[in-house]
Amino acid sequence: EAAEKAGFEHFMIKEIHEQPRAVKDTLNSVIHDGVIDLSEMGLSDETIRNISQLYLVACGSAYHAAMSAQYAIEDLAQIPVRVELASEFRYRKMILDEKGLVVVISQSGETADSLAALRKAKSMGIQTLAVVNVVGSSIAREADHVFYTLAGPEIAVATTKAYSTQLIACDVLGVQFAKVRGTIDENHYRELTEELLALPEKIERILQDKERIQWFAAKQAAAHDVFFIGRGIDYAISMEGSLKLKEISYIHSEAYAAGELKHGTISLIEDGTLVVGILTQSSLYEKTVSNLVECKSRGAYLMGLTTYGHYSIEDTADFVIYIPKTDEHFAASLAVVPLQLMGYYVSVARGLDVDKPRNLAKSVTVE
Ligand code: G6P
Repeated sequence: EAAEKAGFEHFMIKEIHEQPRAVKDTLNSVIHDGVIDLSEMGLSDETIRNISQLYLVACGSAYHAAMSAQYAIEDLAQIPVRVELASEFRYRKMILDEKGLVVVISQSGETADSLAALRKAKSMGIQTLAVVNVVGSSIAREADHVFYTLAGPEIAVATTKAYSTQLIACDVLGVQFAKVRGTIDENHYRELTEELLALPEKIERILQDKERIQWFAAKQAAAHDVFFIGRGIDYAISMEGSLKLKEISYIHSEAYAAGELKHGTISLIEDGTLVVGILTQSSLYEKTVSNLVECKSRGAYLMGLTTYGHYSIEDTADFVIYIPKTDEHFAASLAVVPLQLMGYYVSVARGLDVDKPRNLAKSVTVE
């Protein structure tokens, strides 16, 4: 097992470091000479043009990838996108558009609820696409089309690199749908694909700064409650950041859409409660800053996660992490990395079994 960890203390930190490679491999499998080509998975331009809307269905972190993708794809391609938890989707009496595409996202390709959701979509005669990591898995075998994420085997229960490749696969879908539907022009298309291809190197840069996050995480090891807030894509990132922390550190954490704070959660803020604000979306930046200010005035200790350039966050937050600039539709790919590191280092500081957290399984094949 030590050999498999390649010098890292745990599989999770090894897999966090494998993200630049995993993202790059996934991009290179569908982008050739700067042009996205999804025809091998059966998504020709003609097929894409006939799709009226997308239903993204998943569980756990894959659901969070879908949440982020919902904002990105809808905005880029101007197509309605709906996100559903597979465990809900499978039992709901849903009205699905017959020209819609159900996209089931799953690392293992074996999650019982996701598989059941896929079967339900098929029984309703709706076209299906699987975004799956494990080759030949049940979901991959049964879907009409398969977009394989190339994360490689993932051992740690808390997903990192597979989640990152799910985000990338969805971004690629968003850009390609946008191109085919004519919602972006040639130049914009080129810029977006270049931005996608630049992500691995930017993830690498974030990883080089991990000691700073480790230092901060060690200080938070005794926290009782942590809240993550953000708007839009930043809300989706908050959900994943909160899950990463709670699943391996056993610290209670919650993600809230920043604007919802005032409807209840703010009553939970006490002196010293850590609130993590995610602020990668420029148009929402000031709004979320004002929510952070509200938390601070109730005694919260604030961490801000934003892009380089948004230095005014230092007027409000007690600790700030900056990520490189990218197209804001793709910000989740960068912002999640410091949050994965934070969850990891808090768990290590608490002396817990990082790779095998209690009560959790890597793949949930029962209902
Ligand atoms: C389990 C894992 C999670 C994962 C979820 C969905 O709960 O611990 O990391 O996100 O299942 O798994 P899937 O294989 O469908 O992506």
